[in-house]
Amino acid sequence: MADLATIKSRTAVAPCSTANLGPGYDVFGLALDALEDRVKISTAPRQSKGSIQIKMVGGSQGIPAAVESNSAGLVVRRMARDFGIDDGLQVEVRKGVPAGYGLGSSAASAAAAALAFKELYRLKIDTDSLVEYAAEGEIASAGTKHYDNVSASIIGGFVVSSSSAGERRFIGIKPPSDLVLVAAVPVSMQVPEKKTEVARQVLPKEVSLRDVVHNVSSASTVVAGFALNDVEMIARGIDDVIVEPARKHLIPGYDAVRDKALAAGALAVTISGAGPSMISFMKSGKKARLVAAAMLEGFAGAGLQSKTFVCRPSRGAHLV
Ligand code: HSE
Repeated sequence: MADLATIKSRTAVAPCSTANLGPGYDVFGLALDALEDRVKISTAPRQSKGSIQIKMVGGSQGIPAAVESNSAGLVVRRMARDFGIDDGLQVEVRKGVPAGYGLGSSAASAAAAALAFKELYRLKIDTDSLVEYAAEGEIASAGTKHYDNVSASIIGGFVVSSSSAGERRFIGIKPPSDLVLVAAVPVSMQVPEKKTEVARQVLPKEVSLRDVVHNVSSASTVVAGFALNDVEMIARGIDDVIVEPARKHLIPGYDAVRDKALAAGALAVTISGAGPSMISFMKSGKKARLVAAAMLEGFAGAGLQSKTFVCRPSRGAHLV
């Protein structure tokens, strides 16, 4: 019989997020208050040393519970190895963020797992290192690490993943208080397993200098808009000529969703992360319901049922 007194646990939640925001492929992330994942990590004295057991609670959404295919599992395994922790561990994952739709679902689980693990063992690591660990979880769905969703899920608000001068840093900027978003998730669409990996394979291997200049200009405008609290400036910068044109064919109804949302009053509309969700940017929530209805109609025209979420930027991962 395990000694219950020796069982320790920590629970953290982390929000969903939208990545890229048009030109910021793999660099920009924005945490959203629409949905969140919850991860509880407990020591399990009855389990063998070093073993990690994942339990998906409240509906698994088809997410594998094998450690190597589960974003929370990958994070916990890496952190345990790096810090020499060999306790048996139970990891309970409660998904609130639908997997595979471009709302940073794997990142939300990874971010919550990283924070819960850090707090369980009172590790003295800074936020940049915590994001590094959380990014390990992205290998489960994307095949490689990328930092945009996890950094937003951990830090909250708008985050730039900077890898300048050979150092990776995560720069958080508090978003304007009048920024309102509508995410439209085409829930009836069958998304391939490892969808992010698929959506990364369609991207061009080489791009023209002219397109690079265009995207640097757009991305700089987005960052300036966040720094200056100017939603209209952010929206002007959401103009990507490299990634979005290569991916839009993967999203039935892309043009209709975009055109209708813009006609209904959205300032900008783009693919959320690797898609297939789309996201609209607005200054104030006044037109949010109209924009949501327009996005639903756009997907419906392509035979897809969708769910919309009117949301605002969110704070990052925290203990509960
Ligand atoms: N930046 C990543 C991509 C986000 O667009 O592939 C995936 O959520």
